[in-house]
Amino acid sequence: MSQYDLVVIGTGPGGYVCAIKAAQLGLKVAVVEKRATHGGTCLNVGCIPSKALLHASEMLAEAEHSFEELGIKVGKPKVDWAKMLAHKDKTVDSNVSGIAFLFKKNKIDAHRGTGRILGTGRVEVKAEDGSTTVLETKNIVIATGSEVMPLPGVEIDEKQIVSSTGALALDKVPGRMVVVGAGVIGLELGSVYARLGSEVVFVEFLDKILGPMDGDVSKQFQRMLKKQGMNFKLSSKVTAVSKKGKSLEVTVEPAAGGEAAAETLEADVVLVAIGRKPYTDGLGLKEAGVALDERGRVKTDAHYRTNVDGIYAIGDVIAGPMLAHKAEDEGVALAEMLAGQAGHVNYDVIPGVVYTQPEVASVGKTEEELKADGVKYKAGKFPFTANGRAKAMLHSDGFVKVLADAATDRVLGVHIVGFGAGEMIHEAAVLMEFGGSSEDLGRTCHAHPTMSEAVKEAALATFAKPIHI
Ligand code: FAD
Ligand code: NAI
Repeated sequence: MSQYDLVVIGTGPGGYVCAIKAAQLGLKVAVVEKRATHGGTCLNVGCIPSKALLHASEMLAEAEHSFEELGIKVGKPKVDWAKMLAHKDKTVDSNVSGIAFLFKKNKIDAHRGTGRILGTGRVEVKAEDGSTTVLETKNIVIATGSEVMPLPGVEIDEKQIVSSTGALALDKVPGRMVVVGAGVIGLELGSVYARLGSEVVFVEFLDKILGPMDGDVSKQFQRMLKKQGMNFKLSSKVTAVSKKGKSLEVTVEPAAGGEAAAETLEADVVLVAIGRKPYTDGLGLKEAGVALDERGRVKTDAHYRTNVDGIYAIGDVIAGPMLAHKAEDEGVALAEMLAGQAGHVNYDVIPGVVYTQPEVASVGKTEEELKADGVKYKAGKFPFTANGRAKAMLHSDGFVKVLADAATDRVLGVHIVGFGAGEMIHEAAVLMEFGGSSEDLGRTCHAHPTMSEAVKEAALATFAKPIHI
């Protein structure tokens, strides 16, 4: 007899959600986590702490740049960095302890230690003191997430040369910061420090920022960030970082190569944010015979099954976007399948949000993808400069773009850059989940005055004419 129906290794958004859902459906569940607290990368050193610093620094920018125009007089605001970090830490604490509470509430056994798969049905847990316990279970879920992608030749010390983890806990706001990679992490954390007063330069390999996003969005967004004082070296790569006293010398070369064209940037802190890679160290996958794909991710089928009976995987450690909500939805779907129900994730409708100011949000296909797939489409666009609420809030930068099938009018993609884009994107996600058309969206009554009216107007621009431009 197995002790458990399910043992989940890793309690990030994928693992903890899978465990809770499975327990709700009547399975006897245990989790194994090597970190002192639950919640994984996302709650401890990712989504949640970054959003605490993003919000605090946005408030600073509002006070510095908007209050006067809004008729509010306060002196020049000052940054209390220690307090800002304390706000971040308190936010993390309250979220991670919430997960521990949910485990208790759902009668899930939480084992602290490193999990290693001994084969079908057996997981060894090694505690910090070296002692081991073996859990017996019908099913095992690998939800061990991802780790920082290293930059060859550049050693991360998490003090001066940092990954996102070090960047969330710097001892002071740096004067000059070089960010390697203008992707999601780089742009979010780079904009935190730019608002706090650092001179920020991004070195990006590609010729655009936010590579996978819609080209229109990426171009306009870069202009907005430039206006906020951030600088970009596109089509460039960092080949070396050396310490010179308290400073760092960063060697930048053209992406295509060419030492002759190399230049040196000086920085106090370098943030390396060139992607993340699946984390499978010490899990015993080789010995257990679990296959990986060519990029080191655990290989699964559409039902999250690995090639070994009774072993499944979800989240950052498998293929697909490395997003917390993707991991969570996979956790729910897998728990449902293990409980004998039909679980499903619609990978065509997974929103992506960059929590900068303004935010960037996207769901479905970009124009570039539709062109590459040879799909005939129509596009409607509406700027926030023509939206009353945006003007009242001094947040009229950006636009909404709706892409719909030319023949059927079915919405295929929605892209927003603007204040609150991360909230607005969900009406597009729901519409697309139901196979809705741009006419459905454009004829749905939207409350006035809201930023969301720009979504309706962009939809109107797709199948007819918008009213306000
Ligand atoms: P993880 O959250 O990485 O959790 C895996 C857990 O497994 C960890 O706690 C780890 O300690 C544990 N573990 C690993 N191996 C073992 C083992 N052998 N035994 C026991 N435990 C083990 N995504 C978003 O959607 N929105 C955001 O705003 C966002 N912001 C981010 C900001 C930053 C700075 C970073 C780095 C990431 C961000 N992400 C964001 C991505 C998000 O954090 C990940 O997609 C998400 O955490 C993946 O969840 P997961 O459960 O697959 O893995
Ligand atoms: P990313 O893949 O978003 O961006 C990495 C960037 O670095 C790319 O633009 C790439 O072209 C560039 N790059 C790669 N090698 C380089 C080099 N040698 N020199 C210069 N540039 C180089 O990865 P990032 O930002 O590290 O984030 C990792 C993951 O975390 C992402 O998959 C993302 O989905 C997730 N995440 C999500 C967030 C959100 O949803 N808001 C926030 C933060 C992270």
